[in-house]
Amino acid sequence: MCGIVGYIGKSQAAPIILDGLAKLEYRGYDSAGMAIFDGEKINIEKSVGRLKVLENLTRGGATMPGFSGIGHTRWATHGVPSDVNSHPHFNKNQTIAVVHNGIIENYIPLKKKMIANGYEFVSETDTEVLAHLLDYYYKGNPLEAITKVLHRVEGSYALGILFSDHPKEIYAVRKDSPLIVGQNEDGCFIASDVPAILKYTRTVTYVDNQEVVKLSADELHFYTVDEEEIQKESVTIDWDANAAEKGGYEHFMLKEIYEQPKTVTDTISPRIKDGDIVIDELNMTDEELKAVRRIHIVACGSAYHTGVTAKYILEGLCRVPVEVDVASEFRYRNPILEEGSMVIVISQSGETADTLAALREAKSRGFKVLGIVNVVGSSIAREADSVLYTWAGPEIAVATTKAYSAQLSALYLLAMKIGKVKGTISNELFASLLEDLKKLPYQIELLLGQKEKIQKFANRYVGAKDIFFIGRGIDYAISLEGSLKLKEISYVHSEAYAAGELKHGTISLIEDGTLVVAVSTQPELYQKTISNIVEVKARGAFVMAIATEDNVAMEKAADYTIYVPETNPYFANSLAIIPLQLFGYYVAVGKGCDVDKPRNLAKSVTVE
Ligand code: G6P
Repeated sequence: MCGIVGYIGKSQAAPIILDGLAKLEYRGYDSAGMAIFDGEKINIEKSVGRLKVLENLTRGGATMPGFSGIGHTRWATHGVPSDVNSHPHFNKNQTIAVVHNGIIENYIPLKKKMIANGYEFVSETDTEVLAHLLDYYYKGNPLEAITKVLHRVEGSYALGILFSDHPKEIYAVRKDSPLIVGQNEDGCFIASDVPAILKYTRTVTYVDNQEVVKLSADELHFYTVDEEEIQKESVTIDWDANAAEKGGYEHFMLKEIYEQPKTVTDTISPRIKDGDIVIDELNMTDEELKAVRRIHIVACGSAYHTGVTAKYILEGLCRVPVEVDVASEFRYRNPILEEGSMVIVISQSGETADTLAALREAKSRGFKVLGIVNVVGSSIAREADSVLYTWAGPEIAVATTKAYSAQLSALYLLAMKIGKVKGTISNELFASLLEDLKKLPYQIELLLGQKEKIQKFANRYVGAKDIFFIGRGIDYAISLEGSLKLKEISYVHSEAYAAGELKHGTISLIEDGTLVVAVSTQPELYQKTISNIVEVKARGAFVMAIATEDNVAMEKAADYTIYVPETNPYFANSLAIIPLQLFGYYVAVGKGCDVDKPRNLAKSVTVE
């Protein structure tokens, strides 16, 4: 969840680290800090608050001269956000500095042991244990001390480490938290994610679990936890560097909402060939697909909502039972996976700790796992048996939009492929689905054109206390995501309900003027949802409907209607979600919220 950047080379380290941390603020932003070696000693500056505070404190890095250093932007786990809990953390003589992303699960016994050995702790963090442990084991050889520590700690970590008596080196380590290293002619870099260093280099190496990297100004050396040197291949990142910049938009979130037509095109078009769907990455023969008897989908957050949508589509089109779980439940519920089960995990970041654990759980039971992942080379992408990449490019805003749309597109392709192979989709239906799929990017463009109308409506609700979202079937899945988008960035309390369920309790919360957003894109359920609209209106609700153009009865039923173009009802989420993303966005903007970095959240949740 936290962000790490490190640099050693010919340039001043602090400005490079600050610049990189700014690209990683989506990972955590409650405090930030840097440790820079000034030629004689390590200096640390750190502070609670956004990265801006650290930038001001160090005058953009100018007060911290030096050619090597490590930096950190924090999302607090152990210990409240405070100056003292911010990273980096020092050992007692201030000769070793550590930044950490992850959780040291056995830090309490380790802390007790270190206190018994005379070490004093100044922070409440689990990370400080690492600084003292390194001190304890350090006898002049950093690699030896690091590997000794690694043998003693449990949990997840990506670390950047400085030793003041090895000034020409910095060290990086990882287990279950993301970390990459990069190199150019000027120096070497460590980072939690590619955008942090994309400006400086496109040549990166993914650090694998329990590997240690020694970086100097012109060399990278990789070691196992047993101190054996290993050779690793670097990869070239071919993203457009501008993809990680705002490009004139007020927020990354708005930019990413606007990128959705492209995202959907990029995800579907390479996989449509000669009127068919070709997903080479599936690594499954038609016979294997035919043999699938049950599908388990596991994910977190918005990715879970795409899974809920996929359940309706896969069951409808492929007639295969689908179970959808949030990963944190799946991993501990001793799930029943029978022969013939296909396991799909969905994740934008490819690093979500619970989703990764769910993947491992399924694999440990002998099941192959398909990952639907956005970040190339991420942990889930590397550990899954096959990967269907969503080509959304880097997503920076904490609240996902374009990656969500890309996940939906990937799931449509998968459902159509399985349905065709199983023979549950006729050739005519397949051809018509394909046509509708290809139209989605253009239809999303049309919806984006309604931005001002939605903004005006959203402005009326900046003071709202509660907002409810209702829908049936796929419209319920859309409601889940619409509600999450709103609450996560605007802090307006909202809940999504299966429209028929609201009356079993929650309807008691409806008061005069309460906004209820009713989603209605499924023709066979139009009338049923209208009945639920009537129920809430009778209790004083104001109803905004998101309805398909042919849903003429909605005009009278709702107080305000936003129409979405017609498509196959299975694809309706891709369209109906657009006004809901914009609605959430504009309520948040109207309230003056920090849209791209909502409080308490992180984009990549690498702790459970
Ligand atoms: C966090 C993000 C959500 C995201 C979820 C799952 O909570 O804020 O936007 O949907 O994690 O992330 P993943 O990277 O696995 O899709």
